[in-house]
Amino acid sequence: MSTGHATVKLPIPLANRLQALAGARNTAALVRVRRPRGAAQRALAARNFASNDYLGLSTDRRLRAATVRAAAAYGAGSGASALVCGYTDLHAALELELADFTGRSRALVFPSGYHANLAVLGALARRRDAVFADRLVHASLIDAIVLSRARLRRYAHRDPAALAAQLGASRAALKFVVSDGVFSMDGDIAPVRDLARVARRHDAVLFIDDAHGLGVIGPGGRGAVDLHACGEAEVPLLVGTFGKAFGAAGAFAAGPADLMEAVLQHGRTYAYTTALAPAATAAARAALAIIREEPWRRAHLAGLIDHFRAAAAAAGIGVLPSSTPIQPVPVGDARRALRLGDALCERGFNVPVIRPPTVPAGTARLRISLTARHCATDVDALVETLDELLRREGASP
Ligand SMILES: Cc1ncc(COP(=O)(O)O)c(C=O)c1O
Repeated sequence: MSTGHATVKLPIPLANRLQALAGARNTAALVRVRRPRGAAQRALAARNFASNDYLGLSTDRRLRAATVRAAAAYGAGSGASALVCGYTDLHAALELELADFTGRSRALVFPSGYHANLAVLGALARRRDAVFADRLVHASLIDAIVLSRARLRRYAHRDPAALAAQLGASRAALKFVVSDGVFSMDGDIAPVRDLARVARRHDAVLFIDDAHGLGVIGPGGRGAVDLHACGEAEVPLLVGTFGKAFGAAGAFAAGPADLMEAVLQHGRTYAYTTALAPAATAAARAALAIIREEPWRRAHLAGLIDHFRAAAAAAGIGVLPSSTPIQPVPVGDARRALRLGDALCERGFNVPVIRPPTVPAGTARLRISLTARHCATDVDALVETLDELLRREGASP
């Protein structure tokens, strides 16, 4: 987009770098485009299959009211790091409520899940340690491991036996095992109980990032860890986010009090960043109350997931195995996936096209996410349109 400013003369190595980056993006159909969304598009929620707002809480009147009240009382921003003066009684109350909800001794609130992951591993892992990560963990976990300087080892997706073999062969001083609870681009659930058993046998510390599971799966919406009946003894490090099922923004880490104290004292992305805004903190509190009190949202979502899978199967549409609201339709080729995404968009459906490097090369997909704001008719309309477009794609040269 032209800004109307004179072109800035860049050092030649930087200009060359930009050219190389642009070339790589263009040849592999990997250019990303942002589409500004207006507030009025809320009305189009029925055709939005792109959002992680799984319980439909981001527009809930109680979250909006809590946000407005907190902004009026505390101001728009928190003003400083939590260790300076950014920590309010709203943050303190939310931490207690989260510890109670997750059955952990202590919780710490962060401005985002990215911050939380970096803080946990940054505070606890060191150069001589090793972190064993599922091959498909979220990018923020990879960055957290790289920044911690611990050795990164990746094990085959959802494969406790492969993990056990790697752990057994490791001489690292301290070993961590890291996995998403619900995998963000695949929608499948980590075998948390088996990971915990293997980790315990090898004296490793298990860290589950359940950004996409908390609020949605497990008893009472307590996520993948509770689904596998794992408390903090089995999973000492747990991260959850408020940007997805909670419908707000921000995140938390939870676990034994001494581990959380170390994260508070030594987590650089806890100390050296502005604390979560009071308004978002209040919204997360309101969301947590709803998650606890309104199980019908999860029940409705579970019904929609079954409905979608049955309708897709009846139409012969392949969907990756997933019992969560993330229902990926594998396409393979990035260009073909883009064509399908654009065609869906022309019909009024917002379905994100996920391409490398977010997913491995050759595994581009449409990432359909269902939310409690959808109904069966919305799902039918999507499946019908997708079926027609896939048939047409199949027939095209
Ligand atoms: C598994 C996982 N962890 C962490 C994050 C980062 O959370 P946040 O958006 O709060 O930074 C995301 C997505 O954004 C995610 O999918």
